[in-house]
Amino acid sequence: MSPLVWDLAHISQQEELWLVRGGDATRPGLLPPGVDALYDAFTQPRAIRPTLPLLPPVEARRYGREVRGRVLDGLDRATDVFPYAMVVQHEEQHDETMLATIQLRAGGPVLAPTRALPPGRPVPRDSVLVPAGEFVLGVDPLQEPRSLDNERPAHVVDVPAFRIGRVPVTNAQWQAFVEAGGYTRPELWSTRGWEHRREAGLERPMAWHEDGSRTRFGVVEEIPGDEPVQHVTHFEAEAFARWSGARLPTEVEWEKACAWDPAAGRRRRWPWGEAAPTPDHANLGGGALRPAPVGAFPAGASAYGVEQLVGDVWEWTSSGFEPWPGFSPMLYAQYSAPFFGGAYRVLRGGSWATAASTVRPSFRNWDHPFRRQIFTGVRLAWDA
Ligand SMILES: [Fe+2]
Repeated sequence: MSPLVWDLAHISQQEELWLVRGGDATRPGLLPPGVDALYDAFTQPRAIRPTLPLLPPVEARRYGREVRGRVLDGLDRATDVFPYAMVVQHEEQHDETMLATIQLRAGGPVLAPTRALPPGRPVPRDSVLVPAGEFVLGVDPLQEPRSLDNERPAHVVDVPAFRIGRVPVTNAQWQAFVEAGGYTRPELWSTRGWEHRREAGLERPMAWHEDGSRTRFGVVEEIPGDEPVQHVTHFEAEAFARWSGARLPTEVEWEKACAWDPAAGRRRRWPWGEAAPTPDHANLGGGALRPAPVGAFPAGASAYGVEQLVGDVWEWTSSGFEPWPGFSPMLYAQYSAPFFGGAYRVLRGGSWATAASTVRPSFRNWDHPFRRQIFTGVRLAWDA
């Protein structure tokens, strides 16, 4: 992870770059060029960021206020709102990254929840059939002005029938996998996954302890059985799925189960319809510091009856990160394109730590299959 104070000034440096300097890093900015360059994510890899002569917090905040003032001064003259939407989402993505950093830190709690979650309800841990047929994958800027380049364009795809889990996999289900020796049976794992499991010494999800407790934001507590599991790698997700006689969904299946309304023959803006998310629909925004128990959001179900697709935990899919046909890069051309065709796996749906304005059914996140400090969980799928 980056030092928090790197994220803090990087947020402002990107805001200045895209909204004040017109995306041209050679145009003079508020910081001396040598300092500005410290916050370039491409030339300063994460591993070296702790060693950089970063702006201390007070200076980073002063810089951020100065940038924000200039951005607001220019807002009235803006003719295109997309760069602003892009920069807001960039900041919100870093807010989530900073929460992941804080979850990793040792020591007592520094954050307390600011949002109460609804209780779960008894909900069958079954699957929902999504019949074969075409649907519209992806979105166009006109319908989804905040969409980023990799979500576009909207296009029709035909998807064979499949089944998908009604709710995400829970801690209790994961505990059963651990007790059944899931972490000791190579036949459940991919070759690369097993190698990683051995090298990294993985025996249970991150922050779980051998005595059945876990540490969450500095608090040691009993693991709630009905909460979606989080902090698992793609490799662990695959092994769990195989043990369950299932597989991970493709991201195309995931998006169909989330956004398609088969009766109306069109996409919904959200799984539940057109209305913006409320606390009755989904657990977003970071205030809860945890996923909600399964069954907490009956009002958030998709047209197919799939629940908790948006919020709670990012869901690993089996898909590599690739462009949709007709992809064209946005203003920030390095956002998606450098990551296509790599070993990245796509995650969908956002987590409890994701802002409502930074996730939607078409939103695509990607990461290395070995990553688990982000708020990752699992939903199962089956061939129908
Ligand atoms: Fe960034």
